[in-house]
Amino acid sequence: MNAVVVYRSKYGSTKAYAEWISEELGCDIFEYKEIKIDDLLKYDTIIYGGGLYAEVINGVYLLTKNMDKLKGKKIAVYSTGITPLEYREYYDKLVIQKNFTPEMLEQIKVFNFMGKMILEELSLPHRTAIKALKALMKNKENPTEMEKLLITLCDASGDFTDRTAIKELIDYVKM
Ligand SMILES: Cc1cc2nc3c(=O)[nH]c(=O)nc-3n(C[C@H](O)[C@H](O)[C@H](O)COP(=O)(O)O)c2cc1C
Repeated sequence: MNAVVVYRSKYGSTKAYAEWISEELGCDIFEYKEIKIDDLLKYDTIIYGGGLYAEVINGVYLLTKNMDKLKGKKIAVYSTGITPLEYREYYDKLVIQKNFTPEMLEQIKVFNFMGKMILEELSLPHRTAIKALKALMKNKENPTEMEKLLITLCDASGDFTDRTAIKELIDYVKM
């Protein structure tokens, strides 16, 4: 199989998954900034991973703005995030809607893995953003489903990465 994994990772969890996937498939691996879209055209299968930041899959526009060049390729995209399990079904759909059009989804299969967020390790702007969001949500009297999710998300500090989660993606790529 002629596959490649490309990832963009700020704090390391998306990178860890990219390394596990590349090990499992024995395929090439590149960081987002090392590669241009034209470098990917020699591969039949492209796997892209990015962390979630305000529901956006970090860097995924590398693929989504170049779909015309990627016709005929098998594409798998994974995100990493810290949305708790009880919200995953609702949230995963939201992420898919926010990042892809229905036409893109005819070619792209999306996977969502648990990532890592350790408050003390965040950059100052990120830590400030999370704290501000938490303060804003704290005062909501009747939080909506999305607001409840955000409150839980702000509190979910920890490393939830799990190598076994890649199995479904690996099976899809080998299919
Ligand atoms: C400012 C900020 C915004 C975030 N937004 C989301 C989000 O919308 N959904 C989510 O599930 N996780 C969110 N996270 C958690 C990250 O997606 C998670 O830490 C991910 O594993 C980061 O991957 P990376 O370190 O490989 O970039 C956010 C984290 C930060 C710091």
